[in-house]
Amino acid sequence: MENKNNFEDEIDFKNVAKTPLRWFGIVFPLFLVLIIAVGVYYVYNLQAMTLNSITPLPQDTTAIQTDIQMAKGMNVAGINLQQAAKPDDAKLAKGKELFLANCSSCHGNEGDGNGTAGQALNPKPRNFHAKDGWTNGRKFSDMYKTLQEGIMSRGMAAYEYMPPDDRIAVIHYIRTFQNDFPAVTPEELQQLDQQYNLTKGSNTAPQIPVKLASQKLEKEAESNMDKFKQVLSIVEQSSNPSAQLLNELGLEKERLLYTLVETDNWKTDRTKFVEAISSTIYNGGNESRLLSMTQEELGALQSYLASIY
Ligand code: HEC
Repeated sequence: MENKNNFEDEIDFKNVAKTPLRWFGIVFPLFLVLIIAVGVYYVYNLQAMTLNSITPLPQDTTAIQTDIQMAKGMNVAGINLQQAAKPDDAKLAKGKELFLANCSSCHGNEGDGNGTAGQALNPKPRNFHAKDGWTNGRKFSDMYKTLQEGIMSRGMAAYEYMPPDDRIAVIHYIRTFQNDFPAVTPEELQQLDQQYNLTKGSNTAPQIPVKLASQKLEKEAESNMDKFKQVLSIVEQSSNPSAQLLNELGLEKERLLYTLVETDNWKTDRTKFVEAISSTIYNGGNESRLLSMTQEELGALQSYLASIY
């Protein structure tokens, strides 16, 4: 009789509900299992997570520059600066076209600094109708400098890959927004010429627009990933001793195989090879198998990998 009573006490769920401590007693083991499971999963996937965090490049926000022709690098041909500095209809038309394609998104079609892409910028894009507060200045040569060097810290990009003639044409067009821009003086032209070698022309490294550059990088990252996956599956299916050595490494293997995709010089250069693979050694506190390779194993690994990449 007494026993039966006790038994009923235990399963009286009304009572259990009234005492939270008992609830805790019942669900606690569940929580414990859950927490341990998540912890184990995390630790086992730590390396994979780091590997996966090779993030795609951020979206390019400078699409506005796409319409500018690439300067082919090497040779920026010299220009006749005296000639270029005199506005005429052809230059103004060209300047207007370039302005609308490349600048108006920020500076506005009317040059009042109200372009849609400039709304969020602080400071606002220059209003070309205003006379005060210019950072480099309103002179012809000041504007040339702005286009050459940009005012990066204030949101104005450099247009150094825009051919000098085109830059000057845009400046001529900007100067039509107001009729009292300072006149172009021979002194400033001379100084400009000296500073940027406009008459002589210059040899610069090839310059490509940011958008193109980042597209190229993105493509490269994608094809690296493809190659990595290919090599990984070869290694996983191979019975070659070097492949087996790699397979013993677990996740460290993926890091290694990905690193080797990025360069080629390790194929023939033992030092480079050792450098590359040592940068991938990480075995969560255990001694990596890579560290205990013999010279023969290392050589075999190098030639095996060179053969499959
Ligand atoms: C992404 C937006 C953006 C684009 C596109 C842009 N600008 Fe600007 N620009 C700015 C901002 C912002 C400023 C203000 C910088 C400052 O106040 O120092 C500025 C300032 C200027 C100035 C004045 C510099 C000074 O001395 O204060 C000139 C000249 C200029 N831009 C020309 C151009 C030309 C020409 C183009 C096209 C080839 C162009 N900008 C395209 C954002 C832009």
